[in-house]
Amino acid sequence: MSRPFIRVLVVTAALAVIAASAVLWTFFKAPTPQVTSSGTASVGGPFTLVDQQGRTVTDETFRGRWMLVFFGFTHCPDVCPTALNDMSAVLTELGGASDKLQPIFITVDPERDTVEAMSQYVANFDPRIVALTGTPEQIAQAAKAYRVYYKKVPEDDGYTMDHTGILYLMDPQGKFATHFTPNTPPADVAARIRKLLG
Ligand code: NI
Repeated sequence: MSRPFIRVLVVTAALAVIAASAVLWTFFKAPTPQVTSSGTASVGGPFTLVDQQGRTVTDETFRGRWMLVFFGFTHCPDVCPTALNDMSAVLTELGGASDKLQPIFITVDPERDTVEAMSQYVANFDPRIVALTGTPEQIAQAAKAYRVYYKKVPEDDGYTMDHTGILYLMDPQGKFATHFTPNTPPADVAARIRKLLG
């Protein structure tokens, strides 16, 4: 073997050792990923929005009460009306215990869902539901905090919104407690909430 070739071999071997060491070091020394019991454990966080009376509210406005949070929009053909009907049914099912709970509906369509539109919409369901809208930036911030996905989808006569249909239960400190997937029977949701409310 020629001298230059041996040199190349030596350098290559040295580099291989360094690379292998780096990989091993990363493997053994890298901090163990934080294990959480639920993928949605870090759901929630600060938001600043406007309620159906035009008042500015933040997540802190609701401290001391449990929050039952749902994101949707008033032009939604099926998922949202069903979810809000279910939300109303949960409140009825909870009876007096519902006093500890603040149901909240947050729009993902601030363009059409003005304070007035939100006010009229939730009036069809339950007067206890707080309906929140805001600027596109405020809505984006709230959705990000709750890890809610939403996207405008063009239609022939305008647009509709794709959005996450999860119902979130937050504790009186504003921390995530649990969530409910769409179409969970209201009686089941109420039973679970009642247990958590203690
Ligand atoms: Ni919807």
